[in-house]
Amino acid sequence: MKKLFIKTYGCQMNFYDSDHMSNLLKDSGYTVSEEVKEADLVILNTCHIRDKAAEKVYSDLGRIKKVYENNHLRKPIIAVTGCVAQAEGKEITKRSPWVDLVVGPQAYTDLPKLIEKIKHKPDHKEINLQFPEVPKFDLLNFESKKSKVSDFITIQEGCDKFCSFCVVPFTRGAEYSRSVQEIVNEAESLCQKGCKEIILLGQNVNAYHGINKNNKQINLAGLIKELVKIKKLERITYTTSHPRDMNDDLIDLHEDSEKLNPYLHLPVQSGSDDILKNMNRKYTSKQYLEIIDKLRKKVPNIALSSDFIVGFPGETEKDFQDTLNLVKEVKFAQSYSFKYSRRIGTKANRINCMLTEEEKNERLQVLQMVLNKQKHDYNKTFLGKRIEVFIKGKGKKDNQYKGTTKWMQSTIFESKKHLETNKVNLKIKSAMDNCLLGDLI
Ligand code: 5AD
Ligand code: SF4
Repeated sequence: MKKLFIKTYGCQMNFYDSDHMSNLLKDSGYTVSEEVKEADLVILNTCHIRDKAAEKVYSDLGRIKKVYENNHLRKPIIAVTGCVAQAEGKEITKRSPWVDLVVGPQAYTDLPKLIEKIKHKPDHKEINLQFPEVPKFDLLNFESKKSKVSDFITIQEGCDKFCSFCVVPFTRGAEYSRSVQEIVNEAESLCQKGCKEIILLGQNVNAYHGINKNNKQINLAGLIKELVKIKKLERITYTTSHPRDMNDDLIDLHEDSEKLNPYLHLPVQSGSDDILKNMNRKYTSKQYLEIIDKLRKKVPNIALSSDFIVGFPGETEKDFQDTLNLVKEVKFAQSYSFKYSRRIGTKANRINCMLTEEEKNERLQVLQMVLNKQKHDYNKTFLGKRIEVFIKGKGKKDNQYKGTTKWMQSTIFESKKHLETNKVNLKIKSAMDNCLLGDLI
């Protein structure tokens, strides 16, 4: 067997794509390896969302070159896939001429063919950035893909919202929803192989509008109602949602469906109405708070999560204080916060009023301090409770395991005995900002 080293950057949708790439390449004789040194094929499945994520790809490409040169190994085939591939295309092979293949996120089902094409032509490069007529989902092999206790299904891709800071509409293209039947089939296939939790993915997952068997458009709540019928499926969650698409059907379902996790990742980005307007988010902080209020009335202890951007062009001290005020009002259970990063081609890149790196760093630090305390406070409410955890793998220490709760908290516990199951009950004994510690019951 030939060896494939694959590294994934960025969001969960990239992890879903990487799993499917490895699965497709199994048929061409590749097994996955953790070692660049033994690889015949290296794939970097990349993210372009912020400058740092994209630059990391180039430094990793340099490091990979050194591995085979310094060890006098045969050069592996090197492929860059994902959003950096889509955004930078040929530029990648100019900056890093040892790259052989550049393949966009909608075109990776072509990888086996492209690899065959370049195999015997050392200097030949192949670039495929197409958005093909036949969606990639029609060409993936779901039957042969292994499943995990908690697994992903991409149900929607792309974005038509054009937030002024974001590259996604350019890298992932227009919004596209898969059909209900396709998703149900994929979920059934995963559950037959042991999956108990499905994380539905989309850049705008709650804008989902796929068709059912009768050609009728179904929203995300309707899709989840279909998935709930799969007996072996115990938990469902979805990410990432946009506040504008947070409709009442979905909010009601959080109360009505036992299987829908009490967790919602709903990025607000900023608490300032002026900044939200310049970001083209099309909601106000008041509207965001109204959604949160409705959700909390249905599910009081729901774990709320958000993304934040600090230092968007023109963000004043007052705008930043508005963000802090919103955070203090909501009390988030989880969060991701970033410094604004300029992206070529986006509208915000044309706004001149940039903050200095120092100002951005300072604001990020202040915001993260508040958010970390909120995460800790939320996790502390679980102390002493008996909680069901799905096991996601081994921990860093011997006998240690890690898993997640239905509130999507990471959880760590120990077991001297080998565990036969992928689900355990824990008594929570300690709470941190980013995880819970528990004892097996
Ligand atoms: N700069 C900083 N953060 C960004 N995000 C998206 N684009 C940018 C950018 N240009 C953040 C948003 C989004 C998350 C996935 O990444 O918060 O929700
Ligand atoms: Fe990164 Fe967005 Fe691409 Fe995901 S879709 S990998 S977050 S740029």
